[in-house]
Amino acid sequence: MAYNIIPKKKIREMTDEGRSLPVGTLSDPSAPDDKAVRDALKKSGEIPKHIAIIMDGNGRWAKLRGLPRIAGHTEGVESVRDVVEACGQLGVEYLTLYAFSTENWKRPKEEVSLLMRLLLKALQDETDRLNTNNVRIRAIGDLDALPAEVGRELRDDVEKTKTNTGLTLILALSYSGRWDLTRACRRMADDVATGKLHAADITDATIPLYLSTTGVPDPDLLIRTSGEFRISNFLLWQLAYTEIFITQKHWPSFRRDELYAAITDYRGRERRFGMVSEQLRAKESGGGSLQRFIKSVTGP
Ligand code: FPP
Repeated sequence: MAYNIIPKKKIREMTDEGRSLPVGTLSDPSAPDDKAVRDALKKSGEIPKHIAIIMDGNGRWAKLRGLPRIAGHTEGVESVRDVVEACGQLGVEYLTLYAFSTENWKRPKEEVSLLMRLLLKALQDETDRLNTNNVRIRAIGDLDALPAEVGRELRDDVEKTKTNTGLTLILALSYSGRWDLTRACRRMADDVATGKLHAADITDATIPLYLSTTGVPDPDLLIRTSGEFRISNFLLWQLAYTEIFITQKHWPSFRRDELYAAITDYRGRERRFGMVSEQLRAKESGGGSLQRFIKSVTGP
């Protein structure tokens, strides 16, 4: 079954901005480079360590153009390519993409099958280039639920790239936050049953060790495309203090320029983690100052 039904060139001509976008050089080495823009962004402030993205709106993007939904997914892969490359170039350490949720299995069979083929093709086409660019691929979710061929390719790609030290690209596939938490509870219960873990020792520092994202810092920035104000069962535990950026752009129209806008917006946020601004400032100027500040508030 052919899923790449519309020539890429034609789809590109239909992009809503009607302007040429800096498509990732991972796929197109002759594409215009925006190094100066990236350098300015890097110099002017903090680059989030971990960015997570809910890629939404592929279907709406296609519908707006009178195209089949799969055309939106196909163009969405181009956005993935560009954003992955930009993150690598900016020095983002982790990028987690919500590529297929547990709930997505409920979509029409044909769409699920086309999405799986698209994913397989993207992995087959891109992994060598990602590997050359020092990208490490990781996958989270119920990978056993994926078609055998996709599962095999994914495991091979994870293995092939496991020693890379650049961007870690985490693909959330057949993933949901509730699935992750349920699995963590089961695994903890097993460890309690075998005496490896004492129930009384379970704290909020223990639970992350049992989640699929073990060892990965919580996302600093969550981007959601297509304007919905929902977390949609994504990284429920991990997003506790994440800054959220919502754009009206549909995922196939989201390219590196939008990523830069999200990072710039993120920099304007004050991340208080439940504290007050003064405490943060004291913390920034050293632990001693924080102690002094707390003392000044609470008394000796
Ligand atoms: C949401 O749009 C998008 C998805 C469910 C799939 C995302 C998949 C890709 C971009 C392609 C493969 C991914 C990788 C990592 C290579 P939607 O279909 O829910 O759009 P709608 O809400 O407008 O219907």
